[in-house]
Amino acid sequence: MHGFSEENERLAQQILDYALDRMKLDPVPLDGPKTYDELWQAVGETITASGIGGERALQLFDDVLSRACISVDHPRNLSFIPAAPTEESTLFDLVVGASSVYGGSWLEGSGAVFAENQALRWLSDLAGFPSEAGGVFAQGGTLGNLSALVTARHAANERRGSRPQRWVVACSADAHSSVEHAARVMDIDILRVPSDELGRLTGADLEAALVGRDADDVFAVLATGGTTNYGVVDDLAGIAQVCRDRQLWMHVDGAYGLAGLAAPSVRALFAGIEHADSFIVDPHKWLFAPFDACALVYRDPELARATHTQHAGYLEALVGGEWNPSDYAVHLSRRARGLPFWFSLAANGTAAYETAVEQTLTVAGQAEDLIAALPFVELVRPRQLSVLVFRRIGWTPQEYQDWSESLLKAHFAFVMPSRHGEETVARFAIVNPRTSREDIAAILETMA
Ligand SMILES: Cc1ncc(COP(=O)(O)O)c(C=O)c1O
Repeated sequence: MHGFSEENERLAQQILDYALDRMKLDPVPLDGPKTYDELWQAVGETITASGIGGERALQLFDDVLSRACISVDHPRNLSFIPAAPTEESTLFDLVVGASSVYGGSWLEGSGAVFAENQALRWLSDLAGFPSEAGGVFAQGGTLGNLSALVTARHAANERRGSRPQRWVVACSADAHSSVEHAARVMDIDILRVPSDELGRLTGADLEAALVGRDADDVFAVLATGGTTNYGVVDDLAGIAQVCRDRQLWMHVDGAYGLAGLAAPSVRALFAGIEHADSFIVDPHKWLFAPFDACALVYRDPELARATHTQHAGYLEALVGGEWNPSDYAVHLSRRARGLPFWFSLAANGTAAYETAVEQTLTVAGQAEDLIAALPFVELVRPRQLSVLVFRRIGWTPQEYQDWSESLLKAHFAFVMPSRHGEETVARFAIVNPRTSREDIAAILETMA
């Protein structure tokens, strides 16, 4: 099992061939879920005392298991927030796996951490953060939001003499479900401020909600830079002003939308982010990296270090290292998960990222025009980024469900219905530069 054998040599070739073949597929097959019984029938038990051999396990993955997983990078996969890793990022993911890098400390992973930090710097500069800003690639947006809020609460505990019975974080009605999760984990409450008619949290509404409270229990505001369901950006400048006036931590959840900072056509929507205390953006969403990576950046990383550094006898040797990524989020051991993103950014250059994000925005604009031109569909809210929410006039929830299932069953497209209030609606999330106007038109045609 340890020690490179001739058999490993053969297996390496097969695995590289598989990876190359998968990358060359154009388009990739959409594939789809199978039932447990179907998978059991096809695969059976794979864990045995003597092992089934790498070749057989790879064959099962290629023939059955991988085909029971929906391809997130299919150009007509527009559900949830899909992904579209670049060739370079996918290839480098293989390298990261083969390199046995520990990405938690500078001592063990300085080269990797140096490169990851350059990628974080690009994002930090796009947001207009100061040169001392920094952070870490955490596992995902959920963990990034949690880590930022834990830092914000720690800072509030340190700054304010007295503590309320329960701390409160304010956010909009449209903020991502991970905020609820973070609040449960942290045992804090949420102040949900109603969104305006566009789905945004505004500074004025935030101020009105805070003025009405007698307790000084709000420690942070979580603003959203691109809501998941609608792709709408909160009034970051207005929120920043309220946070400055009231000395509240401003965190921007841009897990999906902050990739828009790379695109000149929508950058102005994020005005005000430069005043935030922290933000997240997931390269595995709209920045063309493989799962799973969330860039978490703090204006003052020292506050995060004071919050998240773990202390133990065996770890003391690491204290004071140049930059220990484990000090900036809820984690210790970590894969250097920012490296595929860094490699692609270094190889392609930032201009290619601008072009790719703009391409998806162009197609989102074309989708908007197509929807406006068709008599049987209509947008439920104006589009800001690359998410479109629209209704098929006259359809019942069941009709949306049947339509969505039939598209997937035919391996044609993956478009899950969503909700707009109580109403079932359709939703496109376009983050793949390979998605074309023709793809969108073909999907809309199936709703006629
Ligand atoms: C705005 C926003 N925040 C947070 C998350 C959670 O990110 P993750 O799935 O990487 O945990 C998402 C996921 O879609 C999101 O859209």
